[in-house]
Amino acid sequence: VILPSPPPPLYPTWYAPEPSAIFPNYKLPKGFKFGVATAAYQVEGAVKNEGKGPSVWDWASRQPDAIVDNSTADITDLHYFLYKEDAARMAALGVNAHSFSISWARIYPFGAADSPVNQAGLSHYSDVIDYHWSLGIEPVVTLFHWDTPLALVAYYGGFTSSQIVDDFVNYAKTVFQAYNGRVNTWYTFNEPRVYCSELGGYPFNTSFAPGINASTAPYQCYYNLLNAHAGAVKAFRAMGISGEIAFKNDDFVGQPWRANSTEDVEAVERHAAFQIGVFSNPVYTTGDWPEIVKETIPESYLPRFTEQQMQDLLGSADFFAIDSYRSMLIAAPPNGIASCMSNMSDPLWPACNSIEFYDSNAGWALGPSADPQEDSWLEATPQTLRYSLQQLHERWPTNKMYISEFGFAEPYEAERKDMFRITEDSTRTNYYMTYLGEALQSIYEDGIPLMGTFSWSIVDNAEWSSGFSTRFGIQYVNYTTLERTYKRSALALSEFFMAHLQ
Ligand code: NOJ
Repeated sequence: VILPSPPPPLYPTWYAPEPSAIFPNYKLPKGFKFGVATAAYQVEGAVKNEGKGPSVWDWASRQPDAIVDNSTADITDLHYFLYKEDAARMAALGVNAHSFSISWARIYPFGAADSPVNQAGLSHYSDVIDYHWSLGIEPVVTLFHWDTPLALVAYYGGFTSSQIVDDFVNYAKTVFQAYNGRVNTWYTFNEPRVYCSELGGYPFNTSFAPGINASTAPYQCYYNLLNAHAGAVKAFRAMGISGEIAFKNDDFVGQPWRANSTEDVEAVERHAAFQIGVFSNPVYTTGDWPEIVKETIPESYLPRFTEQQMQDLLGSADFFAIDSYRSMLIAAPPNGIASCMSNMSDPLWPACNSIEFYDSNAGWALGPSADPQEDSWLEATPQTLRYSLQQLHERWPTNKMYISEFGFAEPYEAERKDMFRITEDSTRTNYYMTYLGEALQSIYEDGIPLMGTFSWSIVDNAEWSSGFSTRFGIQYVNYTTLERTYKRSALALSEFFMAHLQ
């Protein structure tokens, strides 16, 4: 098999150019968001403070062997109490937007529509929003970043039950009402595909919520979550809430490994449909699951939408957001799709659709090239971010796009001992500078209406089942003292945006 020759990498992996020297004449459009991102469970800590109820992740992190380092996020960055310090350190970098999530269990400790509202939680986020504005940082709010109130999981299985729709819409309305006029950009859901199919507490469910069939749970979650999204957006519009609303997609549309191979081109289509189209076709283009998904997944696994649901879904987003961490080449599975699709008890069906890999000859395949032992999902081939943005825009066109998250974890960063090595995060810095160079090209050379990028994350934080063993911060956090220290990448980002913002 002959590898295609991709364009040369913009910069060699070991050295990033001066941030201001990256396409110096390409200025970012006015109003561009130099953003950073966080999520409640991962940074807030204070899990039992001010009336918060437990979430499914508070529970999951207490199960044996669920989190690799057996940590909980009970304290993590203590951002709940340190948000002012964190916002000030953002402002010092010139950050003008912070995308954070609201913890549902802080607003409704028991989750349900007919359960009490926690005023302390509501006023906390009100203060957070006002404080950010006072420093010139726009608050960007996500309603759900995976921390389902535990009560709803125990009671009816969380997102595997259609009962979640009313409870979510009720929670969304409370939040819209409370912060209307003070938030311009809203997201209903963070990365539904990842939540439903990989994390979301479902791997833990075998010893928990009774009656959940692990093989159908992800599909039910897809269906209920989309209906909850549509319901929340319908309420948003009916209530006349100001601003724009969408959800955060994840992943990328890949280039076929062998451009002239029909199998690889088909694999790209399947990959795009299962990773992104499964949520974005209903919302942006057809109101329904992609055809290929319907052909593959029977109705007994994946419920079909009613006419009314399709109507509510279609057009239920004002812009397109993508969490874009990696970008790879796509090839057909060597033994054909049918071989692995026959096992319908495997909920992780996308593995059957395609094989994703990076081109190690192309220059900056980040994770594995940094250490061949490292099995990282954070791989990228040059120019594929740009390619992916083009594809996303072509397939699900909108007037505005955000890279709602992007970021990188350096292999073995958590094991580094000296502050010099910790803060000189050259691989992450290269990652950011290379990606941002491609983002500039996308805007200027490809006409992509990109209006913001959000670096994940402003601080090291609790990386779900990886706990604190993986660090994504552009600031180092000492988890004993909670002190934050800027890494090289934070300074490079600041320099890049100061040179390119208008
Ligand atoms: C995307 C998720 O939204 C976020 O919660 C996670 O920490 C990052 N990816 C890094 O894995």
